[in-house]
Amino acid sequence: IVEEHTPNPAAGDEHRPIGYGRLQRKEDPRFVRGKGHYVDDIVLPGMLHGAILRAPVAHARLVSIDTTQALANPKVVAVITGKDLEGLGLAWAPTLSYDVQAVLVTDKVRFQGQEVAFVVAEDRYAARDALELIDVEYEVLPPLVDARKALDPDAPVIRDDLEGRTDNHIFDWEAGDAAETDAVFASADVVVSQEVVYPRVHPAPMETCGAVADFDPIDGKLTLYETSQAPHAHRTIFAMVAGIPEQKIRIVSPDIGGGFGNKVGIYPGYILATVGSIVTGRPVKWMEDRSENLMSTSFARDYIMQGEIAATKDGKILGLRTNVLADHGAFNATAQPTKYPAGFFHIFTGSYDLQAAYCKVTGVYTNKAPGGVAYACSFRVTEAVYLVERMVDALARRLDMDPAELRLKNFIRPEQFPYPNKTGWEYDSGDYEKTMRLSMEIAGYDELRREQEERRARGELMGIGISFFTETVGAGPRKHMDILGLGMADGAELRVHPTGKAVVRISVQSQGQGHETTFAQIVSEELGIPPEDIQVVHGDTDQTPFGLGTYGSRSTPVSGGAVALVARKVREKAKFIAAAMLETRPEDLEWEKGRWFVKGDPSVGKTMAEIALGAVGTIELPEGIDGNLDAEVTYDPPNLTFPYGAYICVVDVDPGTGVVKVRRFIAVDDCGTRINPMIIEGQVHGGLTDGVGMALMEIIEFDEDGNNLGGSFMDYLIPTAMEVPNWETGYTVTPSPHHPIGAKGIGESATVGSPPAIVNAIIDALSPLGVTTIDMPCTPARVWEAMQGRATPP
Ligand code: CDP
Repeated sequence: IVEEHTPNPAAGDEHRPIGYGRLQRKEDPRFVRGKGHYVDDIVLPGMLHGAILRAPVAHARLVSIDTTQALANPKVVAVITGKDLEGLGLAWAPTLSYDVQAVLVTDKVRFQGQEVAFVVAEDRYAARDALELIDVEYEVLPPLVDARKALDPDAPVIRDDLEGRTDNHIFDWEAGDAAETDAVFASADVVVSQEVVYPRVHPAPMETCGAVADFDPIDGKLTLYETSQAPHAHRTIFAMVAGIPEQKIRIVSPDIGGGFGNKVGIYPGYILATVGSIVTGRPVKWMEDRSENLMSTSFARDYIMQGEIAATKDGKILGLRTNVLADHGAFNATAQPTKYPAGFFHIFTGSYDLQAAYCKVTGVYTNKAPGGVAYACSFRVTEAVYLVERMVDALARRLDMDPAELRLKNFIRPEQFPYPNKTGWEYDSGDYEKTMRLSMEIAGYDELRREQEERRARGELMGIGISFFTETVGAGPRKHMDILGLGMADGAELRVHPTGKAVVRISVQSQGQGHETTFAQIVSEELGIPPEDIQVVHGDTDQTPFGLGTYGSRSTPVSGGAVALVARKVREKAKFIAAAMLETRPEDLEWEKGRWFVKGDPSVGKTMAEIALGAVGTIELPEGIDGNLDAEVTYDPPNLTFPYGAYICVVDVDPGTGVVKVRRFIAVDDCGTRINPMIIEGQVHGGLTDGVGMALMEIIEFDEDGNNLGGSFMDYLIPTAMEVPNWETGYTVTPSPHHPIGAKGIGESATVGSPPAIVNAIIDALSPLGVTTIDMPCTPARVWEAMQGRATPP
């Protein structure tokens, strides 16, 4: 790590709760001992097990289902079909994008792996085995797997369940000013066009999705243990759809083994486990296996982007224009703010000061799994960053300019912040040049270019790739952002117990990011109570305030803000109690870390612990102060936060085999105020590894019959320590001016920022062979094909 500033022990920096030092994670003692408590660890008395029968084909009319044989099995307790659900009004459920999705097939199979029937049995094996006893007859229909053909007049209509539907069109959406952009393009010296594809990938968390539903038939209470990134949103939607009163639903999201967007949606399995428990009167567990997870529980990306960039001949970027075809699969189930059907794609102008920009996105149905989740990403910002960073490199090649120099020439300058971009965003803060120059310094950029020249002279294929990304995280201001009408704000409740120990309840849900540590650090910073004395409670709707959950790196920007503000509210209340205890006026008190003292006489004061005891004691409290030292807030952020980073990647391509080796990777991130540097470093390392996966190996492909070719880890490759280099990280700190502690999100920066750096490096390596583009994943076969001058194979 290159420390921009070293902590000053004389000033007590090492002991400050935020920003310095490397406070160990409070949750790690249980994780490293194998004592985490995940959904599949839950065992309830009398619990049954569910398994889902899935469609073997991508598109077919359901002719009949015969469950007689399965039901005859003594270990089978119930078999649920689409018809049964129809009777309960639960055959279809709303998606997070105002579409509907079949819980179990009633009319037609629309993707391979779709849910057809649910078996509930005494144990997991019996449930699985009984799937083979269900006899289903299908009438196979021609599948549609190529999004480019989705709008052809003769394309099969996938969603004939929707009344009046005659095509596969979902939406057209645009941002920016088309006419202004056309005018800028018409006057430009140089225009470069390129098709840039972000293929379908999958978040593939280590823990697959699952649920344990426990419906109590006596008091009508449903307790649902779920792998959920958004327990509160799930509870409200469950109440709306299933008709169970909301106070009778408790959603518990225990330890989660990675989410990455995969656990935002409400999957048929969660609903089926619930129906299974209601029908049998016993708890029902459903855990999907790896193939089910990869084939049916969502996907990410799948954007075909036609990009155009306009510039002057000396390298001033003038405008960007793009037309996107978005493959949403069989049901429009993307999780993103209602107002933006293409998520945050329209931040695609990146980190550059442009005169005009325009984007249009068309969403279509295909016979593929639904989803479109934000895989370690803030609602399509990943696709946006990939597009702009590929286009800027393409422009640099056309102009024969160094890609670092081109970027430095076009960055938004520090004095331009808050910066309104051309597609409706207001970037909060940034000093891009400083971050870029730091990454170039760590990389030894000029030296690398010299080395590249020498190697090229020897016929070696060395590439240097750059990506400078701006993210948009912390969704979001409630008036602009909601999911199914639920505004994207977060609550926090803080209580300081009489002995000065605290508990803070938050509405976001960690999936491994270390919230139990970092949110305690925020409270500690504000109240002076040591982080180890602060318990963070999350993931249980009966114990925490309402909020929209953890995805899109929104926890720190939104819940982090809520936690800082609730702590300040408690601190303010403590002032009144301290004043009563000291028999003085609140305005005569001054705050220093952990205590209120009398102005001008620091020896007279009360610590937080003394005040907490006083709050429940016998002194007479001032009017309006009700005793207990506690508070609650709901934080509706005024804007998103805009973290950014400068990434430089060095690759070597084997000229004989096309194998890409990522030799070095330099990542300099700016996420504003840094709460826990060690956790940030971990988040960045994980995200960079994700980026290597997407750039080099991850893809969910389909054959022409609609068979999913990425349904196991033998086919869907994810990176290991073997494929990644020793990450070289650095940072700058440009606080967010509107966030209570100046923090921006970090969880997804590296996943968003790294793929373009790697692909740009590969193109740079292959450029002596005339290669100007290549699509992800850059497998040895694809790279080799590109080296032969052939078109990129599918
Ligand atoms: O929403 P999610 O937790 O996935 O993302 P995040 O808000 O970016 O936070 C990821 C982890 O990094 C959390 O533990 C944060 O509190 C921590 N973090 C930090 O220490 N400093 C920041 N400026 C941002 C995040």
